[in-house]
Amino acid sequence: MIHSLIFTIALYYGGEAASPAAAADNAPCLRCHESLIGETIADTHLKENVGCASCHGPSLHHLRDETVMTKPDILFGRQQVDAQCRHCHEEHEDPARVARYLKRWSGKTRPNGRLINEDSICTDCHGNHNSAAKPRRPQGEDPAEAWTSLVDGDSLAPWTAEGGAWKLRGGRLVATAAAGETLRIERPAGLEGRRLRFTFQATGRQVASFYWRGSRTARIALAGGPLPPASLSIDDRPVVMSPLAGEIDLEGAGTISIAWAEHIEVFAGGEELYRIRRRRDGDDVKAIGFSIRAEADGAQIEISEVQHRPLE
Ligand code: HEC
Ligand code: HEC
Ligand code: HEC
Ligand code: HEC
Repeated sequence: MIHSLIFTIALYYGGEAASPAAAADNAPCLRCHESLIGETIADTHLKENVGCASCHGPSLHHLRDETVMTKPDILFGRQQVDAQCRHCHEEHEDPARVARYLKRWSGKTRPNGRLINEDSICTDCHGNHNSAAKPRRPQGEDPAEAWTSLVDGDSLAPWTAEGGAWKLRGGRLVATAAAGETLRIERPAGLEGRRLRFTFQATGRQVASFYWRGSRTARIALAGGPLPPASLSIDDRPVVMSPLAGEIDLEGAGTISIAWAEHIEVFAGGEELYRIRRRRDGDDVKAIGFSIRAEADGAQIEISEVQHRPLE
């Protein structure tokens, strides 16, 4: 008989940071923010190598989170816009021309929907950046309310950390490990007939794993890069599985989602990776956890969302 269930998704990272000299690329953002294709602020600045990320931060969690639960790194309230633009721009070259423009538009609404007056900010007069068009939500995405979060932004509990290196930072579970070190964090959870999803970002060379424990031992390892994309083992014995999808780029950040029903289904970035028939003999879920095994100093994992909801 099989005694305990450990289901692990392991991700292997090369840990190559993007070169700072790399040309700005807005394509990853425009995939969803279609209304900003051709928009003046985005386009003018891209030509100057000032991309979305220069102003909004790399926003990796937001960018790779197919569930769009996480905000970009940097957002601007109305009061913060002028200061942001003034990082790079000084006074207008031709103030008289701007004054004439102000006079002409005063009390009128520009095509971007903003009313022009003495208090106008840069983006009232420039561009169409606040375009009313809603960003595209990934298909089939359900409302945030349907999900229950398993990370409460105020404390680590009921997660229990092994090694004490896990911290709660900005509502995220964060751990940094030295070469050869393995760190684990776990919490009780019953997930029968549920869907679970989590969003993470991993940096540095490491094997980052998600696992669950019950009364059997099973293990799935997902690998990015040159390694085969995934493998499953039950009680430490490998089981041959053919992936449904091609190679998936798991580097950096992503959303992994798992459903428990007749089958256990594994998705990455909304694409189904695996479907495994469930054994009926007690493959329940009693606890879920994450672990990282660092292959170089300073490997880090940041888990921004762990959520579950009933199956449809
Ligand atoms: C997977 C689709 C997707 C990608 C990729 C994406 N976004 Fe978004 N973004 C959205 C959605 C959907 C919203 C609206 C979220 C909401 O209404 O809660 C949004 C909102 C925003 C907002 C406004 C947030 C607010 O609360 O006002 C900013 C700024 C933003 N995205 C910037 C970016 C940047 C920069 C990138 C690239 C680094 C990016 N987005 C990539 C889907 C995406
Ligand atoms: C030069 C800096 C800069 C660049 C480049 C830039 N943004 Fe912005 N973005 C801002 C500022 C400032 C605001 C707030 C504007 C305002 O409220 O008037 C903003 C607002 C937004 C909003 C919220 C709009 C709203 O009001 O609902 C989204 C979405 C957004 N940016 C996405 C992007 C994306 C995607 C890119 C790249 C294609 C990008 N931004 C490039 C500075 C920038
Ligand atoms: C990281 C630096 C940077 C930031 C931040 C920035 N800009 Fe720029 N912007 C530039 C550069 C560089 C150019 C091209 C050279 C120039 O015209 O000054 C430019 C060009 C422009 C132009 C076109 C000028 C022309 O001659 O057609 C406008 C308009 C503009 N920016 C407005 C803004 C606004 C509004 C903001 C704030 C939302 C902003 N910029 C934030 C760097 C920046
Ligand atoms: C009342 C409207 C208005 C406001 C507010 C405004 N601008 Fe302008 N801006 C103009 C006009 C008009 C021009 C002349 C060029 C044109 O027609 O685009 C201009 C030109 C520019 C240029 C091109 C170079 C130059 O100096 O002519 C930049 C860069 C620029 N503005 C940045 C900004 C920034 C940054 C802010 C906020 C601190 C801002 N503008 C606020 C109307 C405005």
